[in-house]
Amino acid sequence: MSMFQNRYAWLLIGGLVFLSACYYDKEDLLYGAALPCTDSTGTISYTAKVVPILQTNCYGCHSGGTPSGGIAMGNYTADKALVTNGKLIGTITHTSGFSPMPKGGTKLSACNIAVVQKWVTAGAPNN
Ligand code: HEC
Repeated sequence: MSMFQNRYAWLLIGGLVFLSACYYDKEDLLYGAALPCTDSTGTISYTAKVVPILQTNCYGCHSGGTPSGGIAMGNYTADKALVTNGKLIGTITHTSGFSPMPKGGTKLSACNIAVVQKWVTAGAPNN
């Protein structure tokens, strides 16, 4: 192989490594939530961070006149009630004894679970 061809071979290999790294980084975007995961280390916010996750993954089945399983979600009071009885964290972390949620769907990404968990640990403020 000439020097010239060799250089192109390395460019190709480098390109593939770069592309697969991008693919891995975007896992949260490709699978699970349709929105990128908000960082779980920043400010805790029910409205800005937790609601978008629940909206995308839960409210579709758990709101309206006849919510699935009789479990209503979609406003602070209803969502907070699931924090108080432990069912929000139990279902999204697929803990035994709870029905795994979202039902029939992909488990929330670790980052999205961490966002919800951090809000709960902070006392689930209405902010
Ligand atoms: C495709 C519809 C659907 C989606 C999406 C969904 N659920 Fe459910 N959920 C159900 C149904 C149906 C039940 C009742 C049957 C059961 O418990 O499996 C239920 C039950 C529950 C229960 C009671 C389970 C228990 O163990 O007592 C909770 C809490 C719950 N869902 C929370 C959530 C949360 C949080 C999300 C989002 C992460 C979510 N659900 C997404 C359909 C859904």
